Amino acid sequence: MSTAKPLVIGNWKMNLDLVEAVHLGQQLGVLLKNHPAEHTQIVVAPPFVDIRSVVSIVASERIPLGVAAQHVNPHDNGAHTGEVSTAMLKRLGVEWVLVGHSERRALYAMDDAAVTQTLRAVVRSGLNAVLCVGEAPEIREESGEDEWVARQLRSALDGLDERFRELITIAYEPIWAIGTGLTATGEQIHDMTLHIRTVAAALGLAGVRVLYGGSVNGENATSIIAKGDVDGFLVGGASLKAESFLAIIQSCDDCYALKR
Ligand code: 13P
Repeated sequence: MSTAKPLVIGNWKMNLDLVEAVHLGQQLGVLLKNHPAEHTQIVVAPPFVDIRSVVSIVASERIPLGVAAQHVNPHDNGAHTGEVSTAMLKRLGVEWVLVGHSERRALYAMDDAAVTQTLRAVVRSGLNAVLCVGEAPEIREESGEDEWVARQLRSALDGLDERFRELITIAYEPIWAIGTGLTATGEQIHDMTLHIRTVAAALGLAGVRVLYGGSVNGENATSIIAKGDVDGFLVGGASLKAESFLAIIQSCDDCYALKR
């Protein structure tokens, strides 16, 4: 872990309707009141339709959670049926956006150019962007992961105006580890984190926060954060239950406290 404050983001994906989302927000509020995370910044990324209610409950019950969107359209407005703009998200009180999640890239044809365009729109609007990168299993089998991830980073970050650099977080999510129960090893994560920091520094983003995502849970979080040199996690499945999400948050918090 670098000296940056840990960040844990729960990506709820296309799970939890309005009622379930509010319930999980409230449960997290109660757990965090009893077990406050002193060092760790916590963000949740609900489906679009839940955002307004989650933001309201977080504000009214003073729950220490930031709210992210899972995706956004890079255009300001207009004929983009089914899409949502950065201005709409800001109006709702959203502060973060996941950009280029591998599921968006693979299932919704989001190519590198679209990721770059989206990232620029997000930071230009003043929102924090979590740039997701990571290789497919066949790339890893051919040991092509460093080159693959470097290409994704360069494509999205090259030429980024320095005013926006502090709004960027990078999440390394190897596709083969997402939702599979197959976590990357501490060594694999450590090597990739180092690689990402090096490429990012060459692009002017020295000290950027790097998260890991892919089958993180309450049991493996401590070992990954200790061995993997990451600044936190982007969590899918284990963020859908308040207890398992809290366990991950506490691992980050304890690790940060020990390393300070
Ligand atoms: P899982 O934690 O369910 O593997 O999902 C990871 C992820 O894709 C988070 O964005």
